[in-house]
Amino acid sequence: MDRTALPIGIFDSGIGGLTVARAIRQVLPDEAIVYFGDTAHLPYGDKSKDLIVRYATRITDFLLHERRCKAVVIACNSASAAAYEHLRDAYKDKVPVINVIDPMIEAVIADERIGKAGIIGTKTTIGSGVYQEKFGRRKPSLQLAPLATPLLASMIEEGFYENKISHTVLDAYLSDPILEGIDGLILACTHYPLIKKEIAGYFDRPVIILDSAEVAAAKLKDILAREHLAGPGGGKDHFYVSDYTTSFEKATRLFFGNRVRLEKVRL
Ligand code: DGL
Repeated sequence: MDRTALPIGIFDSGIGGLTVARAIRQVLPDEAIVYFGDTAHLPYGDKSKDLIVRYATRITDFLLHERRCKAVVIACNSASAAAYEHLRDAYKDKVPVINVIDPMIEAVIADERIGKAGIIGTKTTIGSGVYQEKFGRRKPSLQLAPLATPLLASMIEEGFYENKISHTVLDAYLSDPILEGIDGLILACTHYPLIKKEIAGYFDRPVIILDSAEVAAAKLKDILAREHLAGPGGGKDHFYVSDYTTSFEKATRLFFGNRVRLEKVRL
């Protein structure tokens, strides 16, 4: 069976993962996208591993069996931290599963300018210790500065960025002594690309800001080429959510660049 014309499945706890979908659209403009935002269960950033694994499995089944996706992208740092290994092993004979953490690990390891890396994300992502464990194994000489910044995702969702409130919140987090002397800062959360410039502007010296969305999209492109799955294009995009509100739909413009129509499905 020719699988190249099948869509790419992308999922997140909500609509923030549309930053990853947007980056994928930029590098793979012809591929059809099936996006699933688990808005009924967000945020994942303070959920247990077991619960996230359960939600992520249900969503992956939907993307594979009902939408026939040829690859699945976990467009959420919290879900990548909690459920990637489980999904990779459970679906290994069916589709490639791409997460937003491993491509970042590779990118940072390859960048010799980075001797100390800051990592900011949700409590689930930072508390999982996954970055610490993976960097520790691959490049133990790299100094790490992990910092949970749980207010940022809801702040951005509420439209507070590039204003007084976001400056104050960012200042409170980024002035943490743990981040002193970092050469690079990993944005380990779907929402943070929206405040990338503001974060870079906080530092009075050059700090390399590393965006998971861009790095994961580049990785997906490589994998599709390697597995001979790159498509001819022309398919229709779909954006599903497990709970619909007009404010979710409005916020799609923020994260995806243009407003998209959300379709509600119950899993
Ligand atoms: N998508 C989540 C992440 O990247 C942020 C929002 C949430 O906590 O669900 O970690």
